[in-house]
Amino acid sequence: MTSTVLTGISELWTLDPALDDPARPGDVADAQVLRYAAVVIEEGRIAWTGPAADAPAADAREDLGGRAVLPGWVDSHSHLVFDGDRAAEFEARMAGRSYSAGGIAVTTDATRAAADARLRDLVRDRIAEAVAGGTTCLETKTGYGLTVADELRAAQLLDALIAEGALDEATFLGAHLVPREFDGEDGRPGAAQYVDLVAGEMLAAVAEHVRWIDVFCEDGAFDPEQSAQVLRAGAAAGLGLRVHGHQLGRSGGVALAAALGAASVDHVNHLAAEDVEALAATAARPTAPGDRPGLLAVDAGPTVATVLPACDLSTRAPLAPARELLDAGAAVAIASNCNPGTSYTSAMSFCVTTAVLQMHLSLGEAVRAATRGGALALRRGDVGHLGVGARADLHVLDAPAAIHLAYRPGMPMTHRVWRHGQEQP
Ligand code: NIG
Repeated sequence: MTSTVLTGISELWTLDPALDDPARPGDVADAQVLRYAAVVIEEGRIAWTGPAADAPAADAREDLGGRAVLPGWVDSHSHLVFDGDRAAEFEARMAGRSYSAGGIAVTTDATRAAADARLRDLVRDRIAEAVAGGTTCLETKTGYGLTVADELRAAQLLDALIAEGALDEATFLGAHLVPREFDGEDGRPGAAQYVDLVAGEMLAAVAEHVRWIDVFCEDGAFDPEQSAQVLRAGAAAGLGLRVHGHQLGRSGGVALAAALGAASVDHVNHLAAEDVEALAATAARPTAPGDRPGLLAVDAGPTVATVLPACDLSTRAPLAPARELLDAGAAVAIASNCNPGTSYTSAMSFCVTTAVLQMHLSLGEAVRAATRGGALALRRGDVGHLGVGARADLHVLDAPAAIHLAYRPGMPMTHRVWRHGQEQP
């Protein structure tokens, strides 16, 4: 058994769940940030944290030179399985056009046409980019295949990446958009038949490869009734539920997610007071242990409101009301939503910076939402913190204090990254 002690840490954000302050559930307690600290990694896990002066001996010792160390980011929402380029669509949007879900079809065409090896290499490269920015736990989705064969191909690809340890969580998003073949024109089947396909044959094909099912509940995609059909079928197949909701309007996705016990509803740009209350009301739902070490049950716990700051900026949408959600007591996560249409970035540090500067979160609230918040949205207890026993996923900032993330916006802040106790290239 080899161990490594890291010293020279000016701030060690353990975010240890055992030290949570119940009076400030969305924030970081003073005791969760250690000054002049050290951490011991053993067998890919955190074995010890404490004052540097008390650090135990270990097989190896490294001095981090007075830098701040955070848990790696937990990015609970991304769409990395795609080919094709939509830079022109983005440019047109910046020139005044608004975002519509229709662009998904463009990416679907390109993704269907991509060879397996090319698609795998593209996903691998995108994961590497995310890790280079400090992300150490990552969810990603199918959703640009939209046929049984193409969704299965994407799900198998994600499953294989999880098996080799490159990825953490996979989600089936067959209900991303009704594909052209189901437009109901000229005798072709319509949306209802596509929903039956997603909830039937497509789900049956992919279910063994994913832990989650998601639906884009929005005008122009799937209405609440269609979304409920898909989600209920997913739950019956043993999958946890996630919802894209209230991105373009008050789609009904929030009420649906809360009613069905979804782990997360993502985007949440357009919320009325009753939506905020509905999400806050789920915060008291207890989590339950899962069937594997480190995992929680997918069907218990709060519906996390996941805000996507980079997407809000890239679509010039009203920013999701993260401040109001936290003030109301809702559980909040920050994710990248990396995808070619609305948010072509996996830079979680940028998302945290934006949450502080634009969404009015404190640094502690934003860091927590991008670590523990993401972990809760993915029902994982093993990541998002550096308590003893947690996965040794560390993000070393090239700064003496984490506030530099927001104080020096846009500056490169990631110095070194450990994932599963291994330093990343
Ligand atoms: O989360 N909203 C739906 N899906 C993506 C956008 C996908 C696309 O435009 O390609 C999102 O923003």
